[in-house]
Amino acid sequence: MISESDLPNGRFFNVHTTRFSNITMTFSRQHLLGIRELEPAEITHILDAAENFRHLADRPIKKVPTLRGRTVINLFFEPSTRTRTSFEIAAKRLSADTINISASSSSVTKGETLLDTARNLQAMSPDLIVIRHSSAGAAHALARVCQAGIINAGDGAHEHPTQALLDALTIRQHKGTLENLRVAIIGDILHSRVARSNIHLLTKLGAHVRLAAPRTLLPPQFAAIAERNLEIAPNIEDALTDADVVIVLRIQSERQTDAFLPSMREYAVHFGLNKKRLARAARDVIVLHPGPMNRGIEISSDVADGTHSLILDQVANGLAVRMATLYLLSGGTPHGAANIGDALLRDST
Ligand code: NCD
Repeated sequence: MISESDLPNGRFFNVHTTRFSNITMTFSRQHLLGIRELEPAEITHILDAAENFRHLADRPIKKVPTLRGRTVINLFFEPSTRTRTSFEIAAKRLSADTINISASSSSVTKGETLLDTARNLQAMSPDLIVIRHSSAGAAHALARVCQAGIINAGDGAHEHPTQALLDALTIRQHKGTLENLRVAIIGDILHSRVARSNIHLLTKLGAHVRLAAPRTLLPPQFAAIAERNLEIAPNIEDALTDADVVIVLRIQSERQTDAFLPSMREYAVHFGLNKKRLARAARDVIVLHPGPMNRGIEISSDVADGTHSLILDQVANGLAVRMATLYLLSGGTPHGAANIGDALLRDST
């Protein structure tokens, strides 16, 4: 049970009750800032909602009026292809009005602070602001000064909650459950917000996570980890042995302030995922990558494009997860739909 003090800003927004066939659940967050603060039941709730929205992509008319009259601002201070596009399409398919602001087109280039930008945007009464920023805590800072719901689309090396949710949805679709799965996360753990959010989510839902990275790319506090369902593997081969799921990470060169690796070639030799290495994993292993991929470095093309790869399924699921997130944080269905099923029955006119 979530108490008011557990919420980031100590405030309840809309308590939103969703009915999926015969199950009724409650979602009572104003913001989605990270996976760390979510209860396992809340994570499952978002995944179940996303599962409902997934099928909208198969319809000839992909738009429903659920969020008509709502305004969503996408505020992206870092490059993005998948995340930004899918938040925009998700909002449009729910009939919200969307506005995209990137760093180069915003007044931060004229010296305005992030918080002043946020206060000015808030003055235009948006319902939701999606933010990606290079500083850890940027989304939390916005949540303190805005009345709009804030969605963290990646804050520095801290968290990227919707990525972890779409990864979990992809895993659940293929494995049925996350419980007791062996999940290897390989690559630049130190600088990866995807790894951080995934570690929180996977361990909360009962998966066993093994991390493999060069020593220099492991957070120092992780070296001493002795949690029941999180371990550091001595090398990539051990991490892969019998793994059910492999999550491959890009080297986040843009966040590296030091020379963490002798060379990319060296990294590819010792940590790149190729077919030979993948043969150690379970026969029905699935391979995920958040994108963008650097082929030939962290992953070989035959694995990225091979039969175990679900990299494009992740992108499709990203849309469903972002629709679910926008829907749940909007706190309801303004156009009379009592639940997701009802919302999806109505085409936009
Ligand atoms: C990730 C990110 O931006 O953190 N990408 C994404 O959102 N799809 C991972 C990365 O950039 O490597």
